[in-house]
Amino acid sequence: MAARGVGLLSRLSMCTQRSQVLRPIHRRLSCPGTVAADARGEQPSSGSSETGSEDRTPKKRFSEVQKERREQAQRTILILCPNKISEKKFLKYLSQHGPINNHFFFESFGLYAVVEFCQKESVASLQNLTRTPSMGTEAAIPFRSRFFNLKLKNSSNETSEQSCIPCCNQSPPSSKKLFKLLCDAESIDDQLNTLLKEFQLTEENTKLRYLTCSLIEDIAAAYFPDCAVRPFGSSVNSFGKLGCDLDMFLDLDEIGKFNAHKTSGNFLMEFQVKNVPSERIATQKILSVIGECLDNFGPGCVGVQKILNARCPLVRFSHQASGFQCDLTTNNRIALKSSELLYIYGALDSRVRALVFSIRCWARAHSLTSSIPGAWITNFSLTMMVIFFLQRRSPPILPTLDYLKTLADAEDKCIIEGHNCTFICDLNRIKPSKNTETLELLLKEFFEYFGNFAFNKNSINIRQGKEQNKPEPSPLHIQNPFETSLNISKNVSQSQLQKFVDLARESAWILHQEDKDHPSPSSNQPWGLAALLLPSIAKSVSHDKKKRRKPASERIKNLLESIKSSPENSTNTNGKRTVSTQA
Ligand code: GTP
Ligand code: MG
Repeated sequence: MAARGVGLLSRLSMCTQRSQVLRPIHRRLSCPGTVAADARGEQPSSGSSETGSEDRTPKKRFSEVQKERREQAQRTILILCPNKISEKKFLKYLSQHGPINNHFFFESFGLYAVVEFCQKESVASLQNLTRTPSMGTEAAIPFRSRFFNLKLKNSSNETSEQSCIPCCNQSPPSSKKLFKLLCDAESIDDQLNTLLKEFQLTEENTKLRYLTCSLIEDIAAAYFPDCAVRPFGSSVNSFGKLGCDLDMFLDLDEIGKFNAHKTSGNFLMEFQVKNVPSERIATQKILSVIGECLDNFGPGCVGVQKILNARCPLVRFSHQASGFQCDLTTNNRIALKSSELLYIYGALDSRVRALVFSIRCWARAHSLTSSIPGAWITNFSLTMMVIFFLQRRSPPILPTLDYLKTLADAEDKCIIEGHNCTFICDLNRIKPSKNTETLELLLKEFFEYFGNFAFNKNSINIRQGKEQNKPEPSPLHIQNPFETSLNISKNVSQSQLQKFVDLARESAWILHQEDKDHPSPSSNQPWGLAALLLPSIAKSVSHDKKKRRKPASERIKNLLESIKSSPENSTNTNGKRTVSTQA
């Protein structure tokens, strides 16, 4: 039992290894603002065990959330504070520059405060009273950012009022805690919702992500004054886990678009620009100078790597204060549209996010996914697989992308680089599903569905919501929803796919066995989702049960048949089936 516990701990700690220690505490002051409304609007309700889209409160469009969060971030500053300060005095000091809407503290190699003013002017007022530090042997590069150091002028007479700032822990749960929470849950549905609640991005973490983009935008604006740096990927698509990377998109599209149509007369004025042979070279040149800029002048930006020869050129760096691993790209507008599509799917039904989070954690626990690029499945691909599976239910839980396109009106029309990326953006106009299946059933059926999917001939296609013949021989084919000739999982090798299939079958089998045995949550044995996240237990439970019992139902019999017929189903010298969990 102890050894099994250790297995879970080490496995699950891998799930969370990239997460920073982030201990925020949230305070709301009296200034009216949009923060609470934003918080309600952005994250679809979580932790609910209800099925379907029962929540009838209007949901914000992706573009509205982005706009509000961006505007909020522009009024926000980041401060490295002394470890012990008087919170009251700190706020009073900052209030000289204008009313504060909201603030919180977190720990990450020091105590940091995130302070949101009610007005943008307050930031400029504070910057005007801020000095550039005089260094000793080193020299400072003067840069007026929104990232500050707070120093005590005279630390001795403050002592009586200084106190430890209470910081609540916002990092993902320890594996031990998660294990306990899952084992104490009342049902598998409850387990999935618990996992979602513990791993999803918090309001503070989301704010910090938008703030970090906004700080990077200030730096990029030195070259491109009208640029925008927008978060995309799991930071905004509602599938982000605490500790996930921060994908950023340097948007230069607005530059030069202004006023062109307003000019009158026979003349049209254009900027003189430098021409380069291709869009890709332009992207590489832009990212190269921004990379240099971040490296040389970006406060808190460390480990800057320019990865310009990748399919999608990027600049990778760590933002030390927030602890985020950042990937900055440009000319990647389709990825932003993909984030919007996933946001819509995540908001349509409360079961979607719960299922995606559990499948992502399951995949990570079994080393099916990795933070290092390679021949394995990505979280993005896994999310597509869950969406596809939910489109295949009867009645469907999620609509197809083609159906979302038919609901679109004129203002939703979106063509990017010749690809039709049109779909309805107002998610309140999409009818909720009539499907009432439980999460427990969906989890089982997901494993069974993909444990028996004809990957050798079929492609996964969320645009049409049905299998298609594979257009090319990659082991796993998941059609890119917008660039439809591309496969988003081209990188996945046959052995990685087989590992996924084997583990899916194993997990389906365990859940079916539990159905028969009715393990009690009070039995102190890992059960349900907890058993699935624990490879050593998964193996031993399945071996024991396989030896003890004959399959009762036709369904389990079929499942066992399919396990036996798997070409890579290896047998060790004891005649027991082995499951590799190594990547
Ligand atoms: P995390 O693993 O939590 O970071 O999930 P993520 O969705 O953010 O994935 P990732 O950081 O790898 O990629 C960021 C975004 O880029 C995704 O959400 C997609 O929109 C897009 N993306 C990632 N991989 C692919 C791909 O293979 N093809 C296409 N077209 N887009 C991709
Ligand atoms: Mg990401």
